[in-house]
Amino acid sequence: MRVHVVDHPLVAHKLTALRDERTDSPTFRRLADELVTLLAYEATRGVRTEPVDVVTPVAPATGVRLRHPRPLVVPILRAGLGMLDGMQRLLPTAEVGFLGLVRDEQTLQATTYAHRLPEDLSGRQCYVLDPMLATGGTLAAAIRYLFDLGADDVTAICLLVAPEGIRTVESSFGADAPVTVVTAALDERLDENGYIVPGLGDAGDRLYGVV
Ligand code: URA
Repeated sequence: MRVHVVDHPLVAHKLTALRDERTDSPTFRRLADELVTLLAYEATRGVRTEPVDVVTPVAPATGVRLRHPRPLVVPILRAGLGMLDGMQRLLPTAEVGFLGLVRDEQTLQATTYAHRLPEDLSGRQCYVLDPMLATGGTLAAAIRYLFDLGADDVTAICLLVAPEGIRTVESSFGADAPVTVVTAALDERLDENGYIVPGLGDAGDRLYGVV
């Protein structure tokens, strides 16, 4: 498993504005969207391509195009939906699947309540969108779901991650698993309510204007 914290002044600038409690929902949505596109640029560094020949107005040239099967983008409902436009801007031809997971507050186990995904993900690169990697239970369950369908390479794009979440995902799949987490920042810890500290609050509420 690989964790990539994107070190770029524009990423840090947008993240700081997202953290600010005075940032209203419309601005939060726009900034999250822009930040996802920057993270997606890094996250897709390993996207599979194949060589292709084209003819320019001047001469033949060799280039690349995205390889089939197309990458699959999977926003985790609800807050991951707020990241979809920013991701599709970079990967407009990717297929989009949906996964809804809910955590049982007694057992702390995440279970799937909605899914719309291809049945066979063999050979697919999957990009999971989940803004906050907190305890890691939801992301680990989502990745397990995709591996069970045959995915062989999963990249999670998260605005923020906590060390606890990274540990959960790593211990679920092992250090050598084909899992990458791309994020704008690795924060300090979780508080007693499971919020990332300093974090940015409840990402879903801030995206969708719930107070
Ligand atoms: N989910 C959120 O939206 N925020 C957190 O800080 C942790 C989990």
